[in-house]
Amino acid sequence: MTAIDTTTASVTIDFDYIKNLTAAETKAVDQLILNELSSDVVLINQIGHYIIGNGGKRLRPLLLLLAAKALGEANQNHLILAAVIEFIHTATLLHDDVVDESALRRGQESANAVWGNAASVLVGDYLYSSAFEMMVRTNNMQVMEILSKTTTAIAEGEVLQLLNCNNPDTTEEKYLEVIARKTAILFSAATRLAAVISGSDTETQEALATYGQQLGVAFQLIDDALDYKASTEDLGKNLGDDLAEGKPTLPLIYAIQHGTPTQAEIVINAIRQGSRDSFNEVYEVVKATNAIEYTEKCADEAAAKAIASLSCLPDSDYKRALEQLARFSVQRDH
Ligand code: IPE
Ligand code: IPE
Ligand code: MG
Ligand code: MG
Repeated sequence: MTAIDTTTASVTIDFDYIKNLTAAETKAVDQLILNELSSDVVLINQIGHYIIGNGGKRLRPLLLLLAAKALGEANQNHLILAAVIEFIHTATLLHDDVVDESALRRGQESANAVWGNAASVLVGDYLYSSAFEMMVRTNNMQVMEILSKTTTAIAEGEVLQLLNCNNPDTTEEKYLEVIARKTAILFSAATRLAAVISGSDTETQEALATYGQQLGVAFQLIDDALDYKASTEDLGKNLGDDLAEGKPTLPLIYAIQHGTPTQAEIVINAIRQGSRDSFNEVYEVVKATNAIEYTEKCADEAAAKAIASLSCLPDSDYKRALEQLARFSVQRDH
């Protein structure tokens, strides 16, 4: 038996090649998404197309489709669920940008910046409901149980995060609980559902769920690092949004713990205040304490766990693509 390569050392990841592996299925998923966005209520059409039509990495449906193909083939229910997951993801973004008061999303003005908070919240609700309407078409009770639990957990994660805002005493453990729920569980649902629809045994379902969960943790850790180190152009989002909300993300938690008393004080005050004003000062402390490196190391460990959990799959291009995407979630700059 050959040992599986769980290293996450820097490698070149050909995202276009990976996307091409599911090109036909992705086209069908896009069509499902477009059909679902057509409502006779004009604003729903408008905002729906604005947010979904204008980019986004489509990472969650890609993972679901690759997992399906790694297990056999992607059938109609896989396609439906890929669309469902992207709808839920997009709904959370519409709501998230309202809560975070973010003005930029996917390289353009956020929907709340263009149409206002009320419209964003309501169209987010529409996308959630529409996702559930699509999900019912699979006529599969296990699918419905997974997705309803997932959306409940996401809401819990977002509320937990709200409770932590402006609280510099937030621990790493509490932070990890937030990201497990608000982000990782949706990735986990995507890959678990692929196995459920493929009729895989429980062990395989669990392994794929672990893969998605750990990749999701890595993905959010890097998102939180990028909020301090990326460029707005690469990210398509404004830097410093987390600080502006007083979000105690891991780079800040680590900087408080490992900075001098003066450095810690700068970060503590910035979290309490929740403002972009002290971004440069905080950034200097984050840099001086190697907090980004620590956050990246944690992401790396999560990605390695994700890759290790794929050992139950037979070797294929799809499995290798899943391994690569775990690495991508750590190495990405957008
Ligand atoms: C953004 O997710 C929200 C987080 C979980 C950090 P993505 O980075 O996958 O967003 P899009 O869909 O590509 O815009
Ligand atoms: C991710 O959190 C949003 C959800 C998972 C709902 P963030 O607030 O960090 O995401 P971005 O940075 O706005 O994309
Ligand atoms: Mg946000
Ligand atoms: Mg963020």
